Amino acid sequence: MQTRFIAGHLTVAALHLKAEKPSPTASRIRVGIAGLGHWGPNHARTFGRLADLAAICDRSPGRLAQVGALFPGVARYREFEEMLDRARLDAVIIATPTSSHEGLVAATLRRGLHVLCEKPLALRAADAARLASDARRRRQILMVGHTFLFNSGIRHLRGLLRAKNLGRIYYLHSKRTHYGLFRPDVSAIWDLASHDVAIFNYLLDSRPTEVSAVGFDWLRRELHDLGFITFRYPGGIAAHIHVGWLDPKKVREITVVGDRRMAVWQDGGSPGPVTLYDRYVVRGRPLVREFGEFQLLPREGDITVPNLPLEEPLLVQAREFLAAISEGSSPLSDGCFAAEVVRALEATDRSVRLHGAPVRIHSRR
Ligand SMILES: NC(=O)c1ccc[n+]([C@@H]2O[C@H](COP(=O)([O-])OP(=O)(O)OC[C@H]3O[C@@H](n4cnc5c(N)ncnc54)[C@H](O)[C@@H]3O)[C@@H](O)[C@H]2O)c1
Repeated sequence: MQTRFIAGHLTVAALHLKAEKPSPTASRIRVGIAGLGHWGPNHARTFGRLADLAAICDRSPGRLAQVGALFPGVARYREFEEMLDRARLDAVIIATPTSSHEGLVAATLRRGLHVLCEKPLALRAADAARLASDARRRRQILMVGHTFLFNSGIRHLRGLLRAKNLGRIYYLHSKRTHYGLFRPDVSAIWDLASHDVAIFNYLLDSRPTEVSAVGFDWLRRELHDLGFITFRYPGGIAAHIHVGWLDPKKVREITVVGDRRMAVWQDGGSPGPVTLYDRYVVRGRPLVREFGEFQLLPREGDITVPNLPLEEPLLVQAREFLAAISEGSSPLSDGCFAAEVVRALEATDRSVRLHGAPVRIHSRR
């Protein structure tokens, strides 16, 4: 077996220092950001580069002052509704805890503004579907921060799958673990597997039809710290997710196994995020002709690491949101896409309550 790396010179400079030329329209879009905790300041930095960052908002005076100091001249609000009333915004970014998403998105849509909300969109599938259809009816952009859809490695994987480069897909496996960052309002399943379901739906261009899952809630009742989730997708594809926030290792890794090739994506993987394995099984001649049992012969070829452009996914996502507003186009992770993710997570919870019994998922597509 030969290992052949074709990754090039990937540097942090390539990631961050690419000259950004916002389109004049995008740069005039007035954006407000709600929620300045762990994640919101990243949106503030990103939209500060691409658009007119006009307002920031957080209930915590401490966070507002701390993050506000980084963005002098940007109006500060402690109350979300006050920001909507006074800041003359075109669009709002919501990076508050998940339990608040549904109410804040509904309020934003009612004001006629576009909205980019963090994942997951809501805690109930019916609420998520209603928000998606409200946005569509009002012709407003509703996008959800399924950030990994804007990751160059994940996009490359999708290209491979669409070109049938891996052959027929047997299964996908995702591991997303770390230690800490326990959410007060959602389980590790809702917090973390929301990413993986979005990635799987995007990679397969499909929706799961059934789920069986087990979850364990050691730290707090019903907020599961660990989840082992198995989805079935059309075509007999299995997709397994292991998520947890009580793990010694931070891992973000996805394996895709097809009948012609296998691929592994690793966030921040070196020398590149995607590794392709030319591994496949051929059926040899029967050992004993009368019994007709074919031999299964594993074949191994090259291992390759494609050289992919690196760009911060959050920046790509923000650009897509602003382009959707300017052009009236539908973003990749729009309300309907996000509602399907919530539907899958809701079914997952049901299966967990049934100790792993399979639960059908009815798609609205
Ligand atoms: N897409 C990603 O990769 C990614 C990464 C991290 C977090 N997230 C998502 O971002 C959201 C926020 O996560 P976080 O880690 O920043 O949480 P956090 O708890 O660190 O911060 C939330 C902030 O929102 C503020 N807040 C709460 N309710 C508010 C309201 N009604 N109006 C204004 N401010 C309010 C809080 O004071 C707090 O500062 C979550 O939905 C999470 O799932 C997404």
